[in-house]
Amino acid sequence: MKNILVTGGAGYIGSHTCIELLAAGYTPIVIDNLCNSSTISLDKVKQITGKKITFIEGDVRDAKFLDSVFKKFNIYGVIHFAGLKAVGESVEEPFMYYDNNIAGSICLFDAMNRNNVKRIIFSSSATVYGDPATVPIKEDFPVSATNPYGRSKLHIEEILQDIYVSDDQWNIGLLRYFNPVGAHKSGLIGEDPNGIPNNLMPYISGVAVGKYKELSVFGGNYPTPDGTGVRDYIHVVDLAKGHVKALQAFESSKVDNLYTVNLGTGIGYSVLEMVKAFSTASNKKIAYKIVARRSGDIACCYADPTLAKEMLGWQAQYGIQEMCDDTWRWQSGNPDGYKVNAEPHLMVEDVTV
Ligand code: NAD
Ligand code: UFG
Repeated sequence: MKNILVTGGAGYIGSHTCIELLAAGYTPIVIDNLCNSSTISLDKVKQITGKKITFIEGDVRDAKFLDSVFKKFNIYGVIHFAGLKAVGESVEEPFMYYDNNIAGSICLFDAMNRNNVKRIIFSSSATVYGDPATVPIKEDFPVSATNPYGRSKLHIEEILQDIYVSDDQWNIGLLRYFNPVGAHKSGLIGEDPNGIPNNLMPYISGVAVGKYKELSVFGGNYPTPDGTGVRDYIHVVDLAKGHVKALQAFESSKVDNLYTVNLGTGIGYSVLEMVKAFSTASNKKIAYKIVARRSGDIACCYADPTLAKEMLGWQAQYGIQEMCDDTWRWQSGNPDGYKVNAEPHLMVEDVTV
């Protein structure tokens, strides 16, 4: 059994990835400082898989903590999800973003190096493509950043590239996610944003469940078929499976020791198409109004996913209706996210290090 250190593994994408790692025979070891999650997600993973996840509360910026984890467990590789992800907040709080995302990543990579663990999958983002000149977006398109969050992703990619140049024993997969949505089929785990959601899908589902009155559609005059923004939404379970393929790829000859790959479906949907699909899934009317564009948004963004298929043997399986159906199952069953299900005694193993 290979132990995979999953940083930020109690979060949205991390918890779904733990399920797929277990299904593929890996053992996830989760570390998380719980700044945007709770261990209830890992209790639910246990309920879904029947397997207990080793969880250690801690911060990737804590070198001593990381050393103790690497010394205690024989780690085969790392999947690095831990980080902050709200674009608007990053503009307000650049120190916080650079400290958490960049300093945290450097601390982690340094600890990996010291402990001779040189295999990593990093959560990057389609945001590194800025406003692309054309779509679909290929991995060799120019990169840029317009906010501290995006810049942190770009810098971390560059830091990992420099690490590889200095030592080609490293195996590094840079995964550029498009727009993750959806939830596990069980309806037990899903996205649980703090406060009012910034992203489209949790906001639409919040309207459907009656938490918010109406959706503000940011911009109705983009150069897209219906005037609203177009994105490549990808089911979080597909994304999670992509991480397993990305790890396995290091053992094949199909990828270089350092590779960059898009994880998207290759299909773009507009905001209004998402509203319609969610309305069908939930059987609820989703009230919306078209308002001004949101600063920093682009008209259209979707992936060319060819490379992922060729290199990783990975392709998204789920379509827009499953993304909406599964989000609805999670949202309607857990209108307050994990909070309502909080139990006094967590079943997560708390390893003292
Ligand atoms: P999330 O907030 O649900 O998960 C991130 C987890 O990291 C949380 O559990 C949080 O508590 C933890 N964390 C944050 N800082 C930490 C630190 N310093 N030490 C330890 N743990 C820490 O977010 P997510 O949607 O699951 O995203 C996971 C990764 O994917 C992030 O790096 C994010 O930037 C990236 N990403 C997300 C999206 C998206 O739209 N969800 C898109 C592209 C890339
Ligand atoms: N939108 C609305 N109303 C809302 C929220 C969003 O109309 O209340 C629109 C946006 O204008 C955009 C689309 O819905 O056209 C998607 O917006 P999201 O905020 O859900 O996602 P973004 O494409 O803006 O960005 C997301 C993440 C980034 C990540 C990027 C690519 O927030 O961190 O996907 O992975 F970098």
